[in-house]
Amino acid sequence: MTKITIITRAGAEHETEVENGLSVMEAICSSGIDELLALCGGCCSCATCHVQVDPDFVDRLPPLGGDENDLLESSSYRTATSRLSCQMKVTSALDGLRVTIAPED
Ligand code: FES
Repeated sequence: MTKITIITRAGAEHETEVENGLSVMEAICSSGIDELLALCGGCCSCATCHVQVDPDFVDRLPPLGGDENDLLESSSYRTATSRLSCQMKVTSALDGLRVTIAPED
């Protein structure tokens, strides 16, 4: 299990323990937070699972994929640490990860 902190659009912090191997999107959706639409179910085709990652953790994430990059380009709220949460698998290396749910486009 890996601890991650999810920060809602309103700034509320939710700490949760997540089974390794799940995606960060799945962790957010199963934590009782309903702000993440995740419309495509994790197929990397919708960008409604957009989160902004705490800069301290960016180096521990898998590389940004080409499709992921293209989808993020369509967001008005992309930042230097934006990622699609369905494309990030939870591993022990991410213990303590903090992600903020991006504003809705
Ligand atoms: S859930 Fe659709 S791109 Fe992540």
